[in-house]
Amino acid sequence: MDARTLPSAPVPGSLENTLLELLRRKSDETHAHSSRVSDLAWEWVEHMHSRSKWLEVSASEVALSARFHDIGKMAVSDAILNKSGPLSAVEREQMNEHSRIGYELFCNVSSLEQVSLGILHHHERWDGAGYPAGLRGNEIPFLARVIGIVDAFDAMTSSRCYQRARSESAALEEIHLNRGSQFCPELVEDFAQFLNARNT
Ligand SMILES: [Fe+2]
Repeated sequence: MDARTLPSAPVPGSLENTLLELLRRKSDETHAHSSRVSDLAWEWVEHMHSRSKWLEVSASEVALSARFHDIGKMAVSDAILNKSGPLSAVEREQMNEHSRIGYELFCNVSSLEQVSLGILHHHERWDGAGYPAGLRGNEIPFLARVIGIVDAFDAMTSSRCYQRARSESAALEEIHLNRGSQFCPELVEDFAQFLNARNT
């Protein structure tokens, strides 16, 4: 199936919408970014399934986890969240707490265990140098590895107050350069195939 004909990621229920509205009021940019990451992650997983790959992974869970991956930024101060210059070490530490805070919002709902783990670990790195747990390789939950790639791709291809948007091919090249260090190599290859299929 042509990925462009797929419906966008499922619209969450009312409580989830309330949380998303709070995020939008806190930061339009984070809200819009989360929405794009969720839609693209959903499309990518559907594309995996269309080729019978990673069928055990739920596109809905990935999309939901991606939609809320930065929800913990609601607890980060506006001064840090909207700072245009580089963050100090203390500010960076506070910013990095967002993945744990987001996880804590969902971790007590048993049906959302995978969703919450995707949120918690979306800043882990394949080489173990990420946060918050320093997981490496396949220790990192699959959802979190998917979100990490789409998150980086969207961050590079969107314009922000401090950067101009890069082209999709430049962003993909950067992700490719970081396979095996920041990103899961197998998933980077699959992401490239997905984007290629999406653009042809
Ligand atoms: Fe994040």
